This record gives sequence, structure tokens and C-alpha cells, in this order.
Amino acid sequence: MVQLLYLVVFSCLLKASLQKSTPQDSEYVAAVVEYQVSRNVEENLRNYIEHITEAAKQGADIIAFPELTLTNSTTSFPVPIKGLLREYPIPALHPELYDNLLVAISKAARDNQIYVLVNIRELMDCTHNDTGELCPEAKKYTFNTNVVFDRTGKVIDRYRKINLFGEASHTPALQPDLGYFETDFGVNFSHFICFDLMFQVPAVQSVQKLNVTNIIFSTMWFSELPYLTAVQIQESYAYTMNVNFIASGANNIAVGSAGSGIYSGKAGALISIMPGVPTTRLLVSRVPKVPGQVTGSYPGPIYDKPDNHDRLRLITDPSLVAHVSRPLTSGYQQFTLTEKDVSCKFTVKMSPGIGESFPYFRAVIQDSTTTYTLREIGVVSCSIVACTTDQFKSCASNYHPLAATALIEELTIEMTTSHPQFNSSLQCDNAVYFPLSLTKRKFPIGTDNFSIHHGEPDELLRSQLSTDSETGDGKKDITTIVYKLKKPQEDLLSFGIWGKNVFKRCRS
Ligand SMILES: *[C@@H]1O[C@H](CO)[C@@H](O)[C@H](O)[C@H]1NC(C)=O
Ligand SMILES: *[C@@H]1O[C@H](CO)[C@@H](O)[C@H](O)[C@H]1NC(C)=O
Ligand SMILES: *[C@@H]1O[C@H](CO)[C@@H](O)[C@H](O)[C@H]1NC(C)=O
Ligand SMILES: *[C@@H]1O[C@H](CO)[C@@H](O)[C@H](O)[C@H]1NC(C)=O
Ligand SMILES: *[C@@H]1O[C@H](CO)[C@@H](O)[C@H](O)[C@H]1NC(C)=O
Ligand SMILES: *[C@@H]1O[C@H](CO)[C@@H](O)[C@H](O)[C@H]1NC(C)=O
Repeated sequence: MVQLLYLVVFSCLLKASLQKSTPQDSEYVAAVVEYQVSRNVEENLRNYIEHITEAAKQGADIIAFPELTLTNSTTSFPVPIKGLLREYPIPALHPELYDNLLVAISKAARDNQIYVLVNIRELMDCTHNDTGELCPEAKKYTFNTNVVFDRTGKVIDRYRKINLFGEASHTPALQPDLGYFETDFGVNFSHFICFDLMFQVPAVQSVQKLNVTNIIFSTMWFSELPYLTAVQIQESYAYTMNVNFIASGANNIAVGSAGSGIYSGKAGALISIMPGVPTTRLLVSRVPKVPGQVTGSYPGPIYDKPDNHDRLRLITDPSLVAHVSRPLTSGYQQFTLTEKDVSCKFTVKMSPGIGESFPYFRAVIQDSTTTYTLREIGVVSCSIVACTTDQFKSCASNYHPLAATALIEELTIEMTTSHPQFNSSLQCDNAVYFPLSLTKRKFPIGTDNFSIHHGEPDELLRSQLSTDSETGDGKKDITTIVYKLKKPQEDLLSFGIWGKNVFKRCRS
């Protein structure tokens, strides 16, 4: 009996230690939390610790939490990574030196031997001027900050959000420092926060300059049709940058925040959710260290019940109607639209829809700057979007997922525009073009159902566009991206290439 007990205990211990991934493994296990927003900090802390414990039980090596779902608008605390934490890096072992939230998360990471990333409001008190940090003014700063703990509860990284989405009470990072940490399972991560995804620094620089293939994303995203709903852009970022993308989203459906997932390069979503009802949910998945090299089966997108979608607020890009567009008709059509430096050839074959609410479709092209909370972003795009009437203003509005739609039998979009340029001081490209799609269920189509590649620019287009798109040395640098459906689709809301081009900002 005693022996048996010994055996059981021993095999449990063995299992626990086997569960940790090692540098030799081809996979690791990641966890994210779709977390319903609450202002009750004590309750959040209890929930966080439960999720950390549960993720560890399920064998996760690392867990990431969303943006600003631990602290509330009146709670903040110091993370003195250049001060006290150098000497006493494990808050769990020195509770008297640190805020109780920092101590509690450190302890949970340590108790469960798991890496933890949390996002918090960080206080930096520069009135004392003994922080060891850059203190441009003698005042108190509040940052929107990711803090990373290792398996011993040690604080190993701190990243301050560079690109604030309004957030009047926060100061953007004083220097554009990237988030970066290494792990004992042979994976190096970068991480950034929400609106940061839209900018060259850090979203492109993190991958290209640091040469990492694993990115953690803490977010409280405000979904926008037709290009920027949460899971749609998360999955496309992973695909386009060819990285594993571990995205943890705050859930607050009344303002349009929902959507989390774990994505692996060209393989798409290993697991993803876009809930239309208030939700807190832990998602755990094996992740191949080489993005896209999946083996075995994965849950993929977890769909909501159709009726639940109506409660998620989804706004429509207000600038959409300002652009060049053309309605699609039933049957086969091929045409080219041009706006400023972007030209797109559309080849479409569409069958008439069935049902009462036959949707209209429009091809839309855009080359402009779009302003999001005072920040101008250069956007180029070519897409088709579903509309409820023949009026442009009815396009890309929120659809009921059961509404009838048309069958798109063939669809190819060839976008010709300026080629991304490598910026050698930032060590990254200045433009990224994302293949985006959205179906009525609020997820993108699977990565098996489309292809995207660079093609040869049409000579006529090249001569038309090249005058405007000369680079500094006068060289014409034009590229054509071919984005194509591989299988007919009957529940598309949008399909197109959407790109950010930093050049545009300087030009307008
Ligand atoms: C934030 O949490 C603290 C601590 O629980 C509480 O005292 C405070 O009232 C909360 N603030 C808001 C705005 O809810
Ligand atoms: C903080 O102290 C450093 C020298 O230690 C000084 O250069 C800097 O101006 C001080 N900043 C403030 C805000 O007092
Ligand atoms: C992680 O970074 C370390 C230090 O730069 C490097 O030696 C190692 O090769 C990197 N690991 C991977 C998988 O890139
Ligand atoms: C970047 O990382 C990959 C593996 O992830 C490695 O093969 C390559 O040599 C690295 N390149 C540089 C410049 O470090
Ligand atoms: C590279 O980026 C820096 C920082 O944004 C910018 O000042 C510089 O003009 C860029 N260089 C080129 C060649 O675009
Ligand atoms: C791919 O397209 C087919 C229809 O041609 C559809 O049945 C399937 O669900 C699609 N897969 C995904 C993941 O979108």
C-alpha cells in the first residue's frame, strides 16, 4: 500500500515535470484569457490567480492576460525594473517592498511554475527622482504597461505601450523600447499592446529587428468593419508576419471589445473566439515552435450561436464612403479601379443570392490617411464588401449571421502599389499588406481557402503609378499582390488587401 502510494505520488511529480516544455521540444503550450472587464480589482486578482492555476494544470508554459483588466482607472503601482527589482527581482519573496498586486502575481507564477504576462497601469513617481529611470519632468507618470514574470516569479520584462489609443490619463512610452524576453523552453518572445499593432514601431520592428517568431499581444480592441475586427486582424497579422501570435483580449461587448486567440503563421487559428455575449474564458493550445508547422488537430475558431452576435457592437470605418467604388453585378466581371497611387484589378464571378435580403457587393479602393484618435495612419486597400442596399453607405454594416448572402464563385484582387522599403535605422519595413476577410460569423475564412503572392506588375499600371511612387533615389519600386479565393464562399462580408504604409503619412 505504501509502495503504491509512493508510486502514485512519484508518477504525479514526474508528470508535472514532464509537462514543462524544453528547448528540445518542437512545441510549447500557451494560454490566453478572454476576460470580461470589471472595475473590482480584488475580484480581478482572484480570477487571475485562478486562471494562472488552471492554465498550469493544463500544462501551459506561459499565460497572457488582456490589456487593462487587472487594475481599474484609479489603481496603479510602480514596476521598478531599473531600481529595486534589480536587487530583489522576485516580488513574492519581498512582499514588503512592492505593491500587493505585483507580489500576488509573482507568487502565482512561482507557485504554478509558469510564465505570466499581465498588463497594468504603471505608476512612475518622478517627484523623488530616485527611480533610476528617464525622468524628463518632476511629476507622476502613468503608463499602460506589460509586465512579464518567469516561472520563479521574477520580473523579467516591462514594456510600455508606445501608441496610445486616446487614453488621456496615460503617457506613451518615453522611449520606443521593444518588449523582449527569453524563456527556459527555447522560445524568445516580443510583446506589445493593442493599438501598437497598427504601427511600424513596434508591430513590424518587433518581428524583423529582434528576429523573433513568437509575439504576445494584450489588447482591449474596438472592432471596426470591414477591415479591423479583432480576430480578423489578429489572424492576418500572424499569417502575414509568419509568427505565432498569442492574443489575449478584454471582453466588453457593449463597446465592441471581444476576440482572443492563438494563431500560428500560415496555419491560421489554433484556437480563437469572438464572443457576442459577455465572456470570460481560458484558451490553451499547443503551439509549434516553427510557425505554421502544425501536427495533429486543433480546435480552430470556436463559433458563437448565431443569435449571440447581435449584441457585439461593431462600428463601420467612417472613411469608407469617401473612396472610389463600384457595385458588383451577378455573373462574371473584370475591371480596374485606381485611387492615387493604388490600382486594383478585380476579377469576380458571383451568383445571384437566395432569400429575401439579397446582399449587394461593392468593390472599394483606398489610398489615403485614416485618422484614429488623432493618429494618422497611411492606408492602402482594395476589397469587396457586402452591403444591404445599392447605396454605398449601406456597406460593411453589421449583419445578422443568418441573413441570406450571395455565392462568390471566383474572386481575385490584384493590387499594384509601392513596394515596402526597408528602413535601415529602424531595421524593418515601412509597409505591410494584410490579406483580410470576414464572414457572417465574424471570423476570417480559413487559410486553406485563399492564396496570396507577389506577382509581376502590369506594364501599363507600372507606367501610370511610377511617377508618383518614386523612392528617394528616383527608382520605380512597384509591386503587385495577388489575393485570390481558392474555394467558392457563400457567407463573405468582406475580402481584400489592407495595408499600412508609413510613407503616406509624410506625403499628405
Ligand atoms: C478601483 O479599485 C479600488 C480597489 O479595489 C477601489 O477602491 C476603487 O473604488 C476602484 N475604482 C473604480 C473607479 O471603480
Ligand atoms: C533627476 O536627477 C538627475 C541627476 O541624478 C538630473 O540630471 C535630472 O535633471 C533630475 N530630474 C528631475 C526631474 O529632477
Ligand atoms: C533566443 O535568443 C538567444 C540570445 O540572443 C539566442 O542565443 C537564441 O538562439 C534565440 N533562440 C531562438 C529560438 O531564436
Ligand atoms: C533569425 O532566427 C532564425 C530562426 O528563428 C535563424 O535561422 C536566423 O539565423 C536568425 N537570423 C539572425 C540574423 O539572427
Ligand atoms: C526611417 O525611420 C526613421 C524613424 O521613423 C525616419 O526618421 C526615417 O526618415 C526613415 N528612413 C527612411 C529611409 O524612410
Ligand atoms: C473553406 O471553404 C469551404 C467552402 O468552399 C467551407 O465549407 C469551409 O468552411 C471553409 N473553411 C473555413 C475555415 O473558412
